[in-house]
Amino acid sequence: MVGPQTEAAVAYENSTRRDSPPDLDPASAASSACAAILLALGSPVVQSSGPEYNATTQDIWNLFNTLDQPTCIVYPRTGADVQAAMANIFQFGSHYVVQAGAHSAMVGYNSITDGVLISFANMTSTTYNPQTGTVTVQPGVRWGDAMAAIEHLGFDVGTGLLLGGGISYLAPLYGWAGPTVLGIVTRYELFPVRTGTKEQKNWFGGSITYPASSSVAILEASARYIRENTDTKAGFIALLNTIPSDVTATVYLFYNGPSLPHSIFGDFLSIPNTSASLSPLSYFDISNLIPGNARGNGQQFGAASWVGDEATFLSGYNHFFNFTETFAADLVGSDLIISPIPQSQWNATKTGANAIGDPGVAPPGVQAGFELLLEQASSSPGLPLYINECDASQNVFKTYPSFAALQKTYAKYDPSRFNVEHTTGPIGL
Ligand SMILES: Cc1cc2nc3c(=O)[nH]c(=O)nc-3n(C[C@H](O)[C@H](O)[C@H](O)COP(=O)(O)OP(=O)(O)OC[C@H]3O[C@@H](n4cnc5c(N)ncnc54)[C@H](O)[C@@H]3O)c2cc1C
Ligand SMILES: *[C@@H]1O[C@H](CO)[C@@H](O)[C@H](O)[C@H]1NC(C)=O
Ligand SMILES: *[C@@H]1O[C@H](CO)[C@@H](O)[C@H](O)[C@H]1NC(C)=O
Ligand SMILES: *[C@@H]1O[C@H](CO)[C@@H](O)[C@H](O)[C@H]1NC(C)=O
Ligand SMILES: *[C@@H]1O[C@H](CO)[C@@H](O)[C@H](O)[C@H]1NC(C)=O
Ligand SMILES: *[C@@H]1O[C@H](CO)[C@@H](O)[C@H](O)[C@H]1NC(C)=O
Repeated sequence: MVGPQTEAAVAYENSTRRDSPPDLDPASAASSACAAILLALGSPVVQSSGPEYNATTQDIWNLFNTLDQPTCIVYPRTGADVQAAMANIFQFGSHYVVQAGAHSAMVGYNSITDGVLISFANMTSTTYNPQTGTVTVQPGVRWGDAMAAIEHLGFDVGTGLLLGGGISYLAPLYGWAGPTVLGIVTRYELFPVRTGTKEQKNWFGGSITYPASSSVAILEASARYIRENTDTKAGFIALLNTIPSDVTATVYLFYNGPSLPHSIFGDFLSIPNTSASLSPLSYFDISNLIPGNARGNGQQFGAASWVGDEATFLSGYNHFFNFTETFAADLVGSDLIISPIPQSQWNATKTGANAIGDPGVAPPGVQAGFELLLEQASSSPGLPLYINECDASQNVFKTYPSFAALQKTYAKYDPSRFNVEHTTGPIGL
């Protein structure tokens, strides 16, 4: 997947400093900023309507975020374009948001109304530099395309995802994908991990689905796996899909080796299943196994971090189940996803941090129930929350051991606190 070297352009640092904010209302500030950016960068880099504008506002993973209508969209082609946009956003005190893959589940996180949207849709290249051994990716690239571009070299790189931390099946061995980055990233230079080509089936695994009656066994087995597994070659994720009164569980399990060791996965292999698809796979195969790119539903993610006995997991699950049953009529689906973060992942890298957005827009009853659920299924003491899976209302940074250092860093790079006030996050800094 990825290594530690990432470049951030803290664009407004180099921009014209205003002495005092112009104090325009958000719609006027955004209109003024858009007019000035259009003057600086021209069309089609700056657009306020049309097919490309519509495609960007509609091709967002979380349907809630497709309701936003940015005052204009800036499609930078270079880091200098980003700086020009930010200089004007800062100058007029406009609200803004940055969009890369548009895949974040967080409400209000990757589009905006009465503000400027900076879209990296046209900065999508992936290049391998054999001199430095690094892969340079532009921020708009989708991982599928980045992987396809370098897969023949046997590498994987794992963009927005990096900013939140980044979990992959390689994380137990190599750690978090992304370091702490503040500002707008215009280029990522990554140390690739040699995972093999598409043809090299050096992993074994796939998925097993289980009937409703197995959910408790899956939760208990997951609790044990999380507590006890120390083998960094093992990859695991469990999805408990709750459709009230009918629960199915799917477990994805992988091992970087010729088979699934019973000492690690024995529990999952002995629970009665409804279907199983296990075979030798390449890392390319396993990265594409879980479908994740489909758009079309309004989504709300919320996270808790658990470690401990089986009862901790069952209690969280029971709260989740109660939430789902109560709001069944309002929900298309409701999933509890268990993503292990082993100790080795913490050891392999230091944790990263990024921005987090506005409160959500779920129907009012569901919203209250969701907040209750987050409170009830709260984290085990001392564990940090994983930002890419959190709701915008969750005060994630406060749960990081390096919270004080983050606050200090943020204060250094944004002394006027422009970002806290003009983009959806970060809260708590
Ligand atoms: C179904 C699903 C599965 C997921 N699975 C995983 C997983 O396995 N592992 C994992 O780690 N995460 C996972 N996530 C979380 C997802 O990776 C993160 O939400 C990630 O931020 C999305 O990246 P993006 O480029 O699409 O970001 P966007 O949605 O475009 O933006 C998200 C945030 O990043 C900011 N941002 C984006 N690019 C830049 C930039 N260049 N500079 C500054 N800020 C920027 C945006 O302003 C916004 O705040 C999953 C999410 C979903 C919905
Ligand atoms: C973005 O790239 C596409 C495909 O190359 C091109 O058609 C489009 O005009 C570009 N848009 C902008 C704003 O540069
Ligand atoms: C863009 O979408 C709007 C509705 O949101 C529609 O009225 C308009 O015709 C669309 N424009 C194009 C060029 O498709
Ligand atoms: C799944 O169930 C079938 C039928 O009971 C069994 O033969 C098979 O071994 C099970 N597979 C796994 C991976 O548990
Ligand atoms: C993680 O690091 C700690 C402290 O150095 C060490 O005691 C522990 O064994 C390590 N664990 C793993 C799984 O690497
Ligand atoms: C179940 O959820 C509903 C709706 O949020 C809530 O009112 C109720 O208190 C919950 N029940 C339990 C036992 O937590």
